[in-house]
Amino acid sequence: MRHFLKETDLTVAETATVFAQAAALKAGRASAHTSDLARQSWGLLFFKKSTRTRVSFQVGVHELGGLPVMLNADDMQISRGETVADTAKVLSRYLHGMVIRCHEHALLEEFAQSGTMPVINALSDFLHPCQFMTDMFTLAERWAKGKPEQYVQSLKGRKIAFLGDTACNMANSFVLGGAALGLEVALAGPKGFEPSAEIKKQLKQDGLKETFSFTTDATAAVKGADMVYTDVWVSMGMESEKAERLKLMQPYQVNAKLLSLAKPDAYFMHCLPAHPGEEVSAEVLASPQSIIFDQAENRLHVQKAILAHLARHRN
Ligand code: CP
Ligand code: NVA
Repeated sequence: MRHFLKETDLTVAETATVFAQAAALKAGRASAHTSDLARQSWGLLFFKKSTRTRVSFQVGVHELGGLPVMLNADDMQISRGETVADTAKVLSRYLHGMVIRCHEHALLEEFAQSGTMPVINALSDFLHPCQFMTDMFTLAERWAKGKPEQYVQSLKGRKIAFLGDTACNMANSFVLGGAALGLEVALAGPKGFEPSAEIKKQLKQDGLKETFSFTTDATAAVKGADMVYTDVWVSMGMESEKAERLKLMQPYQVNAKLLSLAKPDAYFMHCLPAHPGEEVSAEVLASPQSIIFDQAENRLHVQKAILAHLARHRN
């Protein structure tokens, strides 16, 4: 049974396969639905809000020939104390796979261990691997000039700057996935937002060398970058720290002046939702360097390829 809970649950070779299939699915979307999930039902369980992930997975399962079963944690017995293990065991009797967005990453691991179906991480407090994979695909489409067989290779050695909340799930995904794919990941955020012991432990467990650096100096991180990334300053679940974070992270706003220090052909990316005027200026969001809506679209294509890959490797 294969799961996709973290970036390294796919080997680099499998990532190349997923990217190639995502490119093919994207190219053929207008004309064809596939049968990769034919006669299957997949549960989509959300403990947190979502716009992109929820809709792209629901549409994705449908386009692969399966039935998406939308589940809000609040409407389920799990929110009244039914255990994760029992929920996983019961749902495994009905469904062929699960997509879960939750707080504690450990819930995903327990669900995967207790159930008998593939589990996909649709964001946890620790990682957002579907977003990371999509972001890499979106860059590779450009850097490998539409040649899917070169997508993974085209990422190697590129410098990525990640600004703002450098301890959040997206930053962790860049630390882990960046090491796996050979990217240089320059993180710039306030003191106290260094990558955690937990993400460093994960790198070690996966046998990966650190390819990230951390600085409090935004300009140093952005200099010479091929892509500049930011995420919200207040992730879901961190609302009580809002006032403090907004103050602390001010120097890391991606604005035109900061972006001009990156390579002239650098891209700006954001997983969205964005808060214009906080982590990024409205001007940068709307600039020709910004590829945020291609990122959002590609969630659909890349997740379809991940779903199909896991369905193929079920047994
Ligand atoms: N980027 C992302 O995961 O968006 P949603 O929270 O809207 O799903
Ligand atoms: N870091 C953000 C990502 C949202 C897609 C959060 O967890 O809220």
